[in-house]
Amino acid sequence: MIADPPYGDIASDKHEQFTRAWISKCCSVLNPGASMYVLASVKTQSSIFLACEAAGLTHVNTIIWRHGRHAHPATKRMQGSYDPILLFVNGEGYTLDHGRAGLKSLVDVWDDIPYLRWNNAERNMFYEMTGGARSCNGHPHQKPLALIRRLILLSSKPGDLVLDPFTGSGTTAVACLQCSRAFIGFEKDLAWTSTIKTRLESTAPLDDLMVPRRARNYQKTLLQNLEALLQSDGPLTTRDLSTRLGEPDRGKIRKYLQRLAKSGKVSAQSIGKTQTLWSVVKKQE
Ligand SMILES: C[S@@+](CC[C@H](N)C(=O)[O-])C[C@H]1O[C@@H](n2cnc3c(N)ncnc32)[C@H](O)[C@@H]1O
Repeated sequence: MIADPPYGDIASDKHEQFTRAWISKCCSVLNPGASMYVLASVKTQSSIFLACEAAGLTHVNTIIWRHGRHAHPATKRMQGSYDPILLFVNGEGYTLDHGRAGLKSLVDVWDDIPYLRWNNAERNMFYEMTGGARSCNGHPHQKPLALIRRLILLSSKPGDLVLDPFTGSGTTAVACLQCSRAFIGFEKDLAWTSTIKTRLESTAPLDDLMVPRRARNYQKTLLQNLEALLQSDGPLTTRDLSTRLGEPDRGKIRKYLQRLAKSGKVSAQSIGKTQTLWSVVKKQE
């Protein structure tokens, strides 16, 4: 589950009650081993934390999202430049796969994803689409796709169901579509429905999500070679491998094949061949 609850539009004396109510409701539908990310603020994180614990969830991490959008300059306090993201899980058996999310390691400070600005392409599509004033058409709290996608990839597998109780402009829905996850969402303000629909209509699943960004160029070539191999008839030989894929990169090839087979994006026949190819690589080592 990914929740980006409202902050400004609820009176501060009602906020705690609201937080407890939605968290206990949402927790009642979480599967065992499910993960829940809550995009909090410095002010709201403590009430969210307590409500999650009261609902029986276990705290795993508080991620510091250093997005670079500074609060207004102040003389009596330091400028805030991050938002906390709380990760809670429902019992044991949860997944946290940094490789799948394209991260080198599991570190709880993220400073590589900036906050969306008004001239960002992700937002432009809304006000260009309707031609109105930008403040009316872009969701004021829209989150970057890269951020939501990372949360989804860290804690779910293709085909899993993701719940977003505060859908807003539909960022989680779009990320789910890109990552081949099922999605269910709720949004109080139905004015956002057409925005969500338009975003979903212009979204396609991403093919290269299983591939860490740093290895993408290498793997693009590898994939082309691999496709040629998968199309070839007959058993694959070690000569096929060394001539088409090159000798020195077997470790990388094996990892890539593992991901490819896990992703379920290739046909049964291709998986069969992929596994043959993989076992040949293994035998050679
Ligand atoms: C912080 S925004 C979410 C933004 C979203 N993550 C995005 O990227 O567009 C919170 C959303 O929750 C909605 N909301 C507020 N109270 C709600 C409620 N009780 N049930 C469902 N949605 C609600 C607001 O209308 C708002 O769109």
